[in-house]
Amino acid sequence: CGIIGYVGNGDGSDALDVLLSGLSGLEYRGYDSAGIALSNGELDVHKREGELSALESVLESADPVSGADAVGIGHTRWSTHGPPSDANAHPHTDADGRVAVVHNGIIENYQSLRSSLAEDGISFESDTDTEVVPHLIASYLEAGLEREGAFRRAVRQLEGSYAIAAVFEGSDTIYAARHESPLVLGIGDDGHYLASDVPAFIEHTDRVIYLEDGEFATLTPETVTVTDHDGTSVETSIETIEWDAEDAGKSGYDHYMLKEIHEQPSGIRECLRGRLSELTGRVTLDLLEGTDWDEPVTLVACGTSYHAALFGAALLRRWGINAQAILASQFHADQLPLTSSSLVLGVTQSGETADTLRALREAQRAGATTLALTNVVGSSAARECDHVCYIRAGPEISVAATKSFASQQVALTMVAALLSDHRSRELIESLRSIPDAIQQVLDTTQARTVAETYRDAESYFFIGRDLHYPVALEGALKMKEITYKHAEGFAAGELKHGPLALVGEQTPVFALVTGEGRAANKTIGNIKEVEARGVPIVAITDGRADVERYADHVLSVPDLEPIASSVVANVQLQLVAYWVANELGRSIDKPRHLAKSVTVE
Ligand code: G6P
Repeated sequence: CGIIGYVGNGDGSDALDVLLSGLSGLEYRGYDSAGIALSNGELDVHKREGELSALESVLESADPVSGADAVGIGHTRWSTHGPPSDANAHPHTDADGRVAVVHNGIIENYQSLRSSLAEDGISFESDTDTEVVPHLIASYLEAGLEREGAFRRAVRQLEGSYAIAAVFEGSDTIYAARHESPLVLGIGDDGHYLASDVPAFIEHTDRVIYLEDGEFATLTPETVTVTDHDGTSVETSIETIEWDAEDAGKSGYDHYMLKEIHEQPSGIRECLRGRLSELTGRVTLDLLEGTDWDEPVTLVACGTSYHAALFGAALLRRWGINAQAILASQFHADQLPLTSSSLVLGVTQSGETADTLRALREAQRAGATTLALTNVVGSSAARECDHVCYIRAGPEISVAATKSFASQQVALTMVAALLSDHRSRELIESLRSIPDAIQQVLDTTQARTVAETYRDAESYFFIGRDLHYPVALEGALKMKEITYKHAEGFAAGELKHGPLALVGEQTPVFALVTGEGRAANKTIGNIKEVEARGVPIVAITDGRADVERYADHVLSVPDLEPIASSVVANVQLQLVAYWVANELGRSIDKPRHLAKSVTVE
């Protein structure tokens, strides 16, 4: 879910405009419903199931109380408790409409809070965990507490994870609190902002304060105050964000996804900048140098980042370091021999995925050193881990991850080289060649033709060996996410151990096969097994005649060494998924049921 809040001082934008543009910058966090609450004397709440556009059409005829001196909060939802509906949309209010609340996270003890409120005669309008909060606040107002006291008292009763913001009738203040869900405050000339993430208000201000767990914030037109759990004021530092609103726009592309696919060459150049030494063949990341890790290095991640983690673990093993990738939701520190000489690496684009954060926190508690490999400066993972390596891909808006995966692959290659003290001028040359090689792929139309040919296929299978295996998994995930069609990735050698029963004329098999080595030769064997059964083959290859002979279609990649080749081959698969989804008229940047950043376990 995404939260935005604004307290204007009368000199700047209309509060309603700020909230709506903020919500559009947060829709990547969920789009099951959207809502706002404005307070300008009276409290005015509007909310609607569906994307932000549904709320906007309601507002056209609603005449909400707004203005440059109004105060407001907004929310875009990814459902956890209760299906998408108007009633379950945030903000939630108390029975008399004195307070409105938005929340991101999960309140784990909401059932017991709800039962005791119900015993006091409170009736509930929604199925959400959040609705207990405004009712609790109202009960403390009734008991005689002033607004801030009532807010604090209610929040202190909550267990679970939350970023919460509340506005009151007759007040120009936003009260907020954070525990295990992100909240960032924006300090503008025309007022103060609050959001789950910076893109929500970057067009208004680049000066931010990151709220920490356990902190409360009070925003008025003149002041921003941050306090701890007990109400003692906390010293904060204002940081300046270095990218601007233009970086977060679509720049003429039809979709963010296509724009982000095309940003991969520049993203990778940025990822490599200042981190390689041609002279010595060494990676010069300022990180963890010279430490010996007695225990296996563990990488934890979810979704696309997990595929990057598989790629990173394979490289570490290749260079002599025992390493494993574990899905963050499957990671349990007590089931691993973690000690103070263990390293746990969290791979997470957003730095906010709840499963990954939980795994990293558990690892930390078990004494391990933690390293966050993330894209978002100031994210929870970046701030909580002992070390951080930024992948520098730039803002990624499309729910389906593309450029962040490529930059994760490149950054993990550098981290693996660093940890294993792998020195090689060839590796450095090869990393440097990736941006131009991706550009060559972007300049062809092969993927679009393949997408047009197979848009109506029943299923799509992807096979690859060694470093191409995570790419096969990622190719299938991209296809599922944005086309809503069945797709699966397999290690090329596994196809014959079961999945082969599924293939047929309606199930094209995308085979990743590059280079001259044993792995490539074996994959060719696997291609023949499929081809012999009348299955269409799409080969992602670097010009091998013996591959092209068996392929119905070829997606070319330049001739590169295996690491670079895997990064570049994946771009062809991103493009195929994009064009199939486009052919099918899917909601490419915001696929159904998904969110870019899942901040609940
Ligand atoms: C969500 C997104 C995926 C993403 C995963 C992990 O499920 O829809 O695209 O790969 O989270 O996100 P992270 O920010 O941790 O890389």
